[in-house]
Amino acid sequence: MATHFYTAASLDGFIATADHLLDWLFAQDFDMAGPMAYPAFIERISALVMGASTYAWLLRHQDAWEYSQPAWVFTHRKFSVPEGADVRFVQGSPSEHIDLINASAEGKDVWVMGGGDLASQFARDGLLDELWIQIAPVTLGSGQPLFTRALQLDLLEVARTRDFVCTRYRVPR
Ligand SMILES: NC(=O)c1ccc[n+]([C@@H]2O[C@H](COP(=O)([O-])OP(=O)(O)OC[C@H]3O[C@@H](n4cnc5c(N)ncnc54)[C@H](OP(=O)(O)O)[C@@H]3O)[C@@H](O)[C@H]2O)c1
Repeated sequence: MATHFYTAASLDGFIATADHLLDWLFAQDFDMAGPMAYPAFIERISALVMGASTYAWLLRHQDAWEYSQPAWVFTHRKFSVPEGADVRFVQGSPSEHIDLINASAEGKDVWVMGGGDLASQFARDGLLDELWIQIAPVTLGSGQPLFTRALQLDLLEVARTRDFVCTRYRVPR
C-alpha cells in the first residue's frame, strides 16, 4: 500500500485561490481517460485524508457525498457529516493516526486530497510515498500552497493531457 498526494495545481504552485475558489481549475478541459487521470487513480484508493478547508469545500460544493471510502479529516473545528459518509475527525500529527488510517484502507492505497500543508505534514513524518501533480496552464499569483516544505523528489512520470502537464514523483523515505 502507498500514500499519494494527488492534486491539480496552478503553474505557480497553488491549489486554490486565497478564497478557496477552484473556478480556474473547473474552467479547464479534462480528459478522464488520459494519463494519470482521476477515474483510474480513485480505483486504487481505500481511504481519504484531508484538512478542514478541503472538507469544507466538499460540503459546500457536492450535492451528495460521492466517496465510499472512509475519510479522515484533520481539524480542530466541528463539522456536519453528510448522510451515508464515513467521516472520522482527528487532530495532531499524521504519525499519531497513520496506523488507524492504514487499517481503514485495508491494505490498499491512501489519498491525501489536500491541502498542501497537510500533505507536507505527512512528508515530514515520512508517511508520503508519491505526489501526483496535474499542472493547469494558469497562474494565480497567490493562494493556498501546493506544498509548504522543502523536499528533494524523484521524477517518475510526465505526460500531457489536453492542456495539463501531469507529473508523478516519488518522495524518498
Ligand atoms: N486543486 C485541487 O485539486 C485541490 C485538491 C484538494 C483541495 N483543494 C482546495 O485547496 C484548499 C486547501 O486549503 P488549505 O490550504 O487551507 O488546506 P486544508 O488542509 O484543506 O485545510 C487546512 C486546515 O486544516 C486543519 N488542519 C491541518 N492540519 C491539521 C492537523 N495536523 N491537525 C488538526 N487540524 C489540521 C487546520 O484547520 P482548523 O485548525 O481550523 O481545523 C488548517 O487550517 C481548499 O480550498 C480545497 O478545496 C484543491
